[in-house]
Formats: sequence, structure tokens, C-alpha cells
Amino acid sequence: MHVDELPTPCAVVDLDVLKRNVRTMADRLKALGVTLRPHVKTHKCLEIAALQREAGARGFTVSTLGEAVDLAEAGFTDLTWAFPLILNRLPEVRRIAERATLRLLVDSPEAIDALESAVLPPGPPGGAAGVECHVWLEVDSGHHRSGVDPGSAVAVELARRLHDAERLVFDGILTHGGHSYRGKNREELLAAAREERRVMADFAKLLMSLGVEVRGVSVGSTPTMSVVEDLDGVTEARPGNYVFHDGMMCSMGACSTADVALTVLSSVVSSQPGAEHSVIDAGALSLSKDPGLDWVEPASFGRVYRDDGSGEIEPDFWVEALSQEHGIVNRSLPVGSRLRILPNHSCLVGPNFDAFQVVEGERVVDRWSIRGLGRSGGR
Ligand SMILES: Cc1ncc(COP(=O)(O)O)c(C=O)c1O
Repeated sequence: MHVDELPTPCAVVDLDVLKRNVRTMADRLKALGVTLRPHVKTHKCLEIAALQREAGARGFTVSTLGEAVDLAEAGFTDLTWAFPLILNRLPEVRRIAERATLRLLVDSPEAIDALESAVLPPGPPGGAAGVECHVWLEVDSGHHRSGVDPGSAVAVELARRLHDAERLVFDGILTHGGHSYRGKNREELLAAAREERRVMADFAKLLMSLGVEVRGVSVGSTPTMSVVEDLDGVTEARPGNYVFHDGMMCSMGACSTADVALTVLSSVVSSQPGAEHSVIDAGALSLSKDPGLDWVEPASFGRVYRDDGSGEIEPDFWVEALSQEHGIVNRSLPVGSRLRILPNHSCLVGPNFDAFQVVEGERVVDRWSIRGLGRSGGR
């Protein structure tokens, strides 16, 4: 099938670009001497996880237990749930941990109490009566979302508790350098990457000097991992967005538009005489309402590609408003015209669709289910 025959709206993945992105990040992190544990929340797709594993990923990162259930069922059995522990989900955690290594994140005494009392059955780790419970301490390296302040006494106290806990396996310290999303160019991304590494390596050193063994130091975001030049003191990285990239990554200088693997195909459904806009069939439930980076001009919900196959963005052409299923573009075009849109944030696009339409050039070569990951077990 030709890409122009696809019903719209749909999420299109360029296979060559996807494979190149997967390979580039794997090679980059290998050269920097760390293990790649990619975040699957961006794609929620088993075929893409398999490509990442082929390229050298060792273990995966999930944002929901639904993703963990589906990955474990498909034979991906070394998983980190990189989300602050939801205490009321411990029975599910326990069930998943019976068939996969599920590594958890904590940043509070309440979470450690709950793990010690609720998840673990009596008996030694890995013993017949029990499952091992692997735990990371989440650290705030500058994003200021979740994670302990590495300069605080509480951080050391929680690390020591995890290390000393009889029936928990302390995997080490983990952070997400999400503050890199405030960067406006490669230099600013590099500064965030250096800070992420330094904060984590220093905290690991401090803990070791206090007799707390730190087995792993896990970092990662796509902006930081795309530019970082030194990961001394780090053991693994967890970028996710890099498989697709998106408008935000292009604006930050983490990639170019030629490196974007996920686009949304849509068509014009209404264009009134005299109006300076058209209505397209890609609304908020296709593109998401992510406004992108607040300093990017013009503010938009997505940019439109040239229709000449050049892979370049058309100047002065963008999605200016969204309602649930309607999108508004700032040009008047004949009804039926097809538009290819560069989304602001790819992680919030894929999960809105049932499947990725996989293309090689203009040819549709496959259809990869997105429902297959994270939906069967709920979120
Ligand atoms: C905890 C955690 N780790 C890793 C990532 C991956 O970062 P990115 O999407 O920038 O690749 C995220 C993304 O939100 C995250 O929240």
C-alpha cells in the first residue's frame, strides 16, 4: 500500500529513521561504557522493544504496571518501573515480580515501610518462599519533580535503610535529568547532562564512603543522552524519546527533522470560502495538547511537513488550535488535502492510536500494535 492510501488520522513510523535512532543511541551509550535500559513509554510497542534489544539494550524501563505485565509476558524480564511506587498497587507488583525482575523506585520512608511489610513474603531473597524485591532510590538531580535531595540527611538515611533491609535488594540510585527539557541549544543540554552525571556520581561516592554499597547509578533522558560526552561514575542510561524524537527535540538541538521517525498523517475535512484556516482530522486525541517548549515561536501544536518529500518543515504553516478530534491549521486548503504533521511530543502521540503504520519511503510495510503494550493489564 502507498502511504497516501492510509486512512487518516494515523501515526506513521519511518522504519529507516527508527532503526537509525535505535542504533545511534545504542552505539553512543556503548562507547560511553554504560548499559542501555530504554524507556518504553514512548512507543509501548513490542516490535520496537525487540529492535532495541537487538541493538544491545539490556533490560527495559516502564512507566506503568500495564507495560510491565505485557513486556514480561513477551519475555522481556528485566524491568524497572521508573515511577514513584504507588502503594495501593503492591499486590500487582508482587504478581509481576514472580515472573520477571521488577525493579521499583522509592523516595520516601512510607514506600520502604510498605515494601518491607506488604510485598515480601517471609523467607530469604530468592528463596523458595519469596521473590526478590529490587529497589532503586530515586534522586533529584535538578528536575525537582520526584526524588530525594542528594544533599539532605534524609537521602542518606533512606539509602542506608534500603542497603540494610534484609529482604530488599538495593540496586542503587536513579535519576531522570528532566531539567534538560529547559535547554534551548546543545550547550544547555550538555550543561544539564554534566550536572546529572556529577550529582549522581558524587552522591554515589558519598554513600560508598559511608559504607553504603551502591551497585548501580542510573541516569537518563533523551536530551542529556543525545549530547553527553562523559558518563564516568554512571552504570546505565534510560532514554526513551530517542526512538522517535519530535518537535521539542528538534527545537532543543538534540536532533534534526531528518531524525524524527513518528509523524501524524491527517487530512483536511473542512475549509470554508474566505476563511484563512482549515480543519483537519487530527485533534487533541491524535496530537495531544502538549504545547511544546514555551520559548519556541510560533507557539503551535505541531508543524506541517512540505509535501515535496524533502522531509523539511513548511515555513509559516502549523496547527494553531485543537479540540478533541478537530485540528485547525493556519492555511486554507482544499478538502481532502493530506498533511503530515511533526508533533510537539511523540511520547504523548503514539499511545493515542491503536497501531503504528510502518513505512519504508512511501510504502506501508507493516502495522505494529500499540494496544499490545500497557493496555491488556490496565495502566
Ligand atoms: C523516570 C524517567 N526515566 C527516563 C525517562 C526517559 O526520558 P526521555 O523521554 O527524555 O527519553 C523519563 C521520561 O519522562 C522518565 O520519567
